[in-house]
Amino acid sequence: MPALSFPDKFVWGSATSAYQIEGATSEDGRSESIWDRFAKTPGKIVDGTNGDVACEHYHRWRDDIALMKDLGLMAYRFSIAWPRILPNGRGAVNEKGLDFYSRLVDGLLEAGIEPYATLFHWDLPQVLQDQVGGWQHRSTADAFVEFADVVSRRLGDRVKKWITHNEPWCTAFLSYEKGIQAPGFKDFRKALAVSHHVLLSHGLAVPVLRKNVPGAEVGITLNMNIAVPASPSAADHDAARHYDGYFSRWFLDPLYGRHYPADMIADYIALGHLPPEGLTECKPGDLEIIATQCDFLGLNYYSRAVLRSTKVPEEQNLPRTVHVQPASEQTEMGWEVYPDGLRQLLIRLTYEYGVQKLYVTENGAAYSEAPDKNGRVPDQRRLQFLRDHFIAARRAIDAGVPLAGYFVWSLMDNYEWDRGYSQRFGIVWVDYETQRRIPKDSALWYKGVIAANAVDDGNAPAT
Ligand code: FCB
Repeated sequence: MPALSFPDKFVWGSATSAYQIEGATSEDGRSESIWDRFAKTPGKIVDGTNGDVACEHYHRWRDDIALMKDLGLMAYRFSIAWPRILPNGRGAVNEKGLDFYSRLVDGLLEAGIEPYATLFHWDLPQVLQDQVGGWQHRSTADAFVEFADVVSRRLGDRVKKWITHNEPWCTAFLSYEKGIQAPGFKDFRKALAVSHHVLLSHGLAVPVLRKNVPGAEVGITLNMNIAVPASPSAADHDAARHYDGYFSRWFLDPLYGRHYPADMIADYIALGHLPPEGLTECKPGDLEIIATQCDFLGLNYYSRAVLRSTKVPEEQNLPRTVHVQPASEQTEMGWEVYPDGLRQLLIRLTYEYGVQKLYVTENGAAYSEAPDKNGRVPDQRRLQFLRDHFIAARRAIDAGVPLAGYFVWSLMDNYEWDRGYSQRFGIVWVDYETQRRIPKDSALWYKGVIAANAVDDGNAPAT
């Protein structure tokens, strides 16, 4: 079969996050997170569900590791629930919470699967939200460092790969501008403050992780898409510039030592999102901290954005962004399928930002194929989606991108935040009534990719 191979030691894995799979939200001393609170607020989640049970991974982790082993996964990216470790946000450590992750890590290593731990995948202890306003307040960056310190001191002898934050854009803008994720505010000014405190907390945590973990590799995961103007008009080009600045450069530039982008500071001042003095939360020395050198960058890639400007006269023709959905295939999330965007982004990160090591820390698709009468889950569209994205990654490697690994989102169907259980991203089917897991066709195909360290090039018949 025609096949495109990957470099030796290329890491094939899958990813999950704590609130989306663990359940057991009030067991063994775990305190409430902002997601527990948000999910239980009427009207916030499309199907009115929450993560109280989810995939019961907290109790089924042994079986889930066996499943991963059977698929031949080399690595597993999971997140650590802060409210299990520090139920008061800071201070007293809950040993039972640490024990859970310690057992999980031992189980993974026994199965020959390397753990990649994400520290913050959105489940902030509610108590920090109540006491200081969560990430709005600078002190939450210090609380995060405390959390990182406690976790890495306990797991650092065995976990060598650390991701400080998952998708700071979501923590800031989905949660504080758009209001569709916890804690659910609609206040752009606050979102900007949050973005800074999250980046600051990353920079503060990196040296702590390095100190506690001999041989650590530390990075951060950003979600990015490519911003494409909808037409040749100058206005649409400007809309694409603005969107790229808001979504990607706002995080990338400070992380890579370039300060917050000047065009975005100017836009935000003009739009009234920032005072004339600019981002006042950014104190002397912060930018140096944020730019602390990391070992890798994680990229979560799902789709692209096509931008059209609408001129709004009362807002002085400042760039406004509206998505124009091109006539192409979409997943059930309504996200355009655009594999070449992954190649383009990886190349951009390599050549424009000089990133030395990259992982795709998430990529995957929501399609709802259910088991057929033989108990098989024929998820051909997901299989094709993954194949096309793997090929795009290989094309990026051909172009010189130092891509070290690829984590499929997600290991199994799980709680998709504000979409509840309505979206299935897993390569493994989960029956939420019985908690039975069934590897879908995409998982069986992925097993073959991992075993061969190669992907069939799409000309071959699908298996
Ligand atoms: C990413 C999140 C992940 C999951 C996927 C579909 O933004 O990191 O938790 O929800 O999207």
